[in-house]
Amino acid sequence: MDRRNFMRLVGGGSVAMATAGMAGCSSDYPAEAVAAWQGPAPGGDVRRWALAHALLAPNSHNRQPWLADLREANTITLYVDRERTLPMTDPWFRQIVVSQGTFLELLVIALKERGIDAQVQLFPQGEPGEKALDDKPVARVAWMPGAPAPTRDPLFAQILKRQTAKVDYDTTRPVDPALVQALAGVVGPQVRFGATLEAARVAALREICWQSARVEILTPRTVMESVRLTRVGPSQIAQHRDGINVMTPMARFADAVGLFDRENPPAEGSTAYKQVATRFQGHSQTAMGFVWLNTDQAGARAAGRIRASQVEAGRAYVRLQLKATEIGLQVHPMSQANQEFDEMKPWYDKLHQLLAGKPATEEVVQMFCRVGHCAPQAHTPRRELASIIRA
Ligand SMILES: Cc1cc2nc3c(=O)[nH]c(=O)nc-3n(C[C@H](O)[C@H](O)[C@H](O)COP(=O)(O)O)c2cc1C
Repeated sequence: MDRRNFMRLVGGGSVAMATAGMAGCSSDYPAEAVAAWQGPAPGGDVRRWALAHALLAPNSHNRQPWLADLREANTITLYVDRERTLPMTDPWFRQIVVSQGTFLELLVIALKERGIDAQVQLFPQGEPGEKALDDKPVARVAWMPGAPAPTRDPLFAQILKRQTAKVDYDTTRPVDPALVQALAGVVGPQVRFGATLEAARVAALREICWQSARVEILTPRTVMESVRLTRVGPSQIAQHRDGINVMTPMARFADAVGLFDRENPPAEGSTAYKQVATRFQGHSQTAMGFVWLNTDQAGARAAGRIRASQVEAGRAYVRLQLKATEIGLQVHPMSQANQEFDEMKPWYDKLHQLLAGKPATEEVVQMFCRVGHCAPQAHTPRRELASIIRA
């Protein structure tokens, strides 16, 4: 804020107006933005009930990039909402496709809970290209009415409890290796599970997290993608119910007085840069261990299943996070180093060498996450169910 603006604010009494809406300055998200976490009313239309669980899936930048078509009976056809991609940080849309998998898995688990044995056909009209998306469906989820009920999935009980805590972990609480081992058990054969709690390896991976975060926040177009998706304070959060949510009094004040710059990337060393960097640094340096999920890229390419392997990684990831919820472990994706934009290439290659021992053309790191412990956090907003139903 320059001096003239400051004077204008003070002189016109606008500071009082700007902060009036922050009375009491609750850090709670607006109730409607997090109402989805109460779960749908029991019973009712089974497809809507299952979709109300599926939209609680973890997904990149909380874009909620899903559209469900309900025109065919006993069927849910899933599409990517192409208005909700992240073209700068996720130029090949890999994370958006992984985020279809998380949704699909919760959908299938919820349908099972209602006695429905859904068959999932991935990309029934063919996969989009490796670096593009198209308007064809990601999945057709269909069932025969009256067919025998499948076994319920015990992970259903964690859907309304699961969360991604985006705060520093408690560095006085190491992670019990048995907890990490328990995660391996829910992942399934299509995806390679990896983990480390070993001090030297954790230190090297913490450094990769932090250095790759620096690349993302110092690359103007990638940092601006996040800046534009940042919702500050209750009214923006209630309006959008997606993206990155900030409720701190300082950010709300800055936004209220026009100091939150949505047009220019934060310069290195500026207050805005320091705020973002401190957050990333804290998350990186309090990682108490790491887990990752890789898929066989060479095999998937040969079989024309690159996109299917990404969906499978998403399905495995949400199972892993539901299991973590059950056993009291926090899991937080740190997706900077495995992003595909050009400036990230040195860290992308290094991460693949460390976690797969081979280049990404052979094996792709689909999810790379820190693990640890922290106090439970508020649930992240979700949009209304109606907003993901296409027809
Ligand atoms: C493919 C994928 C990548 C993600 N990458 C990140 C990340 O780099 N940083 C982060 O804070 N969260 C990441 N997340 C977690 C999302 O931010 C989180 O799921 C979303 O904000 C919704 O919050 P919830 O999981 O608590 O419901 C990722 C999730 C997915 C599925």
